[in-house]
Amino acid sequence: MKRSIQFNLNGKTQILTVEESRKLLWVIRSDLGLTGCKYGCGRGYCGACTVLVNNRTVRSCIYPISFVDGKEVVTIEGLAKNGKLHPLQKAFVDHDASQCGYCSPGMILTAYTLLLNNKRPSYDEIIHHMDKNLCRCGSHTRIVRAIQAAAREMNTGELR
Ligand code: FES
Ligand code: FES
Repeated sequence: MKRSIQFNLNGKTQILTVEESRKLLWVIRSDLGLTGCKYGCGRGYCGACTVLVNNRTVRSCIYPISFVDGKEVVTIEGLAKNGKLHPLQKAFVDHDASQCGYCSPGMILTAYTLLLNNKRPSYDEIIHHMDKNLCRCGSHTRIVRAIQAAAREMNTGELR
C-alpha cells in the first residue's frame, strides 16, 4: 500500500508517496539518486547498504521505507560538512582503506557509530564493532588502522 512518508535525509526534508514496504536502499539510490550506499547481498548480511537512522546503523536493503517516517537518515553523502571530509573519510583515504571501495560507505558509517559512543575504542572493540561488515577485498587491517587514526584525530586534532 502506498502512503506518504516524511523524513530528513542528510539535512533536507523529504516527502514521498511510496509503497510502504519498499526498501530504504532503493528509495535512496533509485528514487533520490544518492548512490553511496551499495547493494551487496540484499539480505542484511554484508553491510554494504548501511546508512544511519537516528544515528544508528541500519541495513537499508531490508529496511522498509515506512520505518523512517519522522526520522533522520544520513548516508555517506551527508558525512562531509562544508566541503570538508569527516575524519573517518580522510583516514580511509590516507590509509588506503578502500580497495574497490564497495564496502567503504558502510564501513565508514558503521565506524561512525562506534566513535560516537566510544571515543577511544581499543583494537578489540573496533574488531568487535566492525565484525558484521564484510570486505571482499580483504582490506580489514587498513580499515582498522584508518579507524584508529580517525579516533586520534577526533580526540586530539592530530591525524597520524
Ligand atoms: S546489501 Fe544490505 S546487508 Fe548486504
Ligand atoms: S574495499 Fe573492496 S569490498 Fe572492501
